[in-house]
Amino acid sequence: MRTEPLPPVAGLLAGRHIVLGLSGGVACYKAAELARELQREGATVQVVMTDAACQFITPATMQALTGRAVVTSQWDLRAPNAMPHINLTREADAVLVAPASADFMAQLAQGRAGEILSLLCLARPRERCPLLLAPAMNREMWSHPATQRNAAQLRADGTVLLGPAAGDQACGEVGDGRMLEATELCDELVAFFQPKHLAGRSVLVTAGPTFEPIDPVRGITNRSSGKMGFAIARAAAEAGARVTLVAGPVALATPRGALRIDVGSAREMLDAVLPLAPQHEVFVATAAVADWRPAEEAAHKIKKDGSGAVPALAFVENPDILATVARLPAAQRPWCVGFAAESQDVERHARAKLQKKGVPLVVGNLGPATFGRNDNALLLVEADRTTELPRADKLTLARQLVAAIAERLPRPR
Ligand code: CTP
Repeated sequence: MRTEPLPPVAGLLAGRHIVLGLSGGVACYKAAELARELQREGATVQVVMTDAACQFITPATMQALTGRAVVTSQWDLRAPNAMPHINLTREADAVLVAPASADFMAQLAQGRAGEILSLLCLARPRERCPLLLAPAMNREMWSHPATQRNAAQLRADGTVLLGPAAGDQACGEVGDGRMLEATELCDELVAFFQPKHLAGRSVLVTAGPTFEPIDPVRGITNRSSGKMGFAIARAAAEAGARVTLVAGPVALATPRGALRIDVGSAREMLDAVLPLAPQHEVFVATAAVADWRPAEEAAHKIKKDGSGAVPALAFVENPDILATVARLPAAQRPWCVGFAAESQDVERHARAKLQKKGVPLVVGNLGPATFGRNDNALLLVEADRTTELPRADKLTLARQLVAAIAERLPRPR
């Protein structure tokens, strides 16, 4: 397998131009961080603010953060044609309004255009410049039938609503209506631009190592960071799938949209996976499951006795989670993808595992060349072909793998 220098990782929004609209609300303070976050991922950001937004954060702050003159009025005559509402969206890949207040949503739902931000939302070319809103308001305002009616109307008109989340609110109340955090909104936007290869489908992923206890303070494990499995869960969620991620002990953030179940040992992982498997159409086993576990787990910490004698540890084999799922009756069995982490001869070993585990696809990779790193190179091994995915960052590879799975996946049963 070739290992070439990694191409520079482009930001996840590289080449995208985003109009970031701010309407009035305390959550305007998060828009500053959001502008930074979008640019960190490579986007260019043009800020447009309503008068109410200017009461919460100044255009000077947003302009300094984005390096572009903020537009606050439809009478802004800086452009030669004096039509900021047309110009701004003709060059944008999306309009993201964050925060979107209850009043702003009401204006949009009615097609009103009384100030620059609602005006440009109405005037944007809908086919190529989507509109995304991040609602932010008090929970009573959000749950009010008028707001819910407006939200439903906006969705029906093709607007994408991101959140709101539940939690503490600036007013001191607790409930639905809090704006998503800047990093969450950025992830949502990244996902929005991904092709929906797996819309309506479901994917179960195992990731990370397992931990097999020797006594209450020790155990054996292996060198898996979980990054590849988490990237696959993220890519599957971005592609529109319902995703469940069964994770061994790793310190990674849960990908947005995935339901995460944390486990410790191989047997716990099997217990979590078995009832879930029939509820999913795809099973991707990336976990580096410990092949063996200590036969006995000591109830208390094993002590040195001073003689230099070492404890005699006996091992037993762990259940093979992937092979167990692959043997489920056809009606309950998801389409299974195995991973093979090898130290040499990747294709030969991966092909052997294809047979041994009875799965349609095994993804081979060189263990020592990927453990803990952000990049990898993969070999997709199937009965009739081998496909190479050259070295790239793990999210790029995960997206390619998800596209390959989507191509091969049988129609829904
Ligand atoms: N796997 C599993 N349960 C196990 C061992 C492995 O589900 N107890 C899965 C892994 O998640 C991976 C695939 O099986 O998808 C291959 O695992 P690997 O350990 O590389 O293969 P083994 O069959 O254990 O063979 P060997 O250790 O001899 O290479």
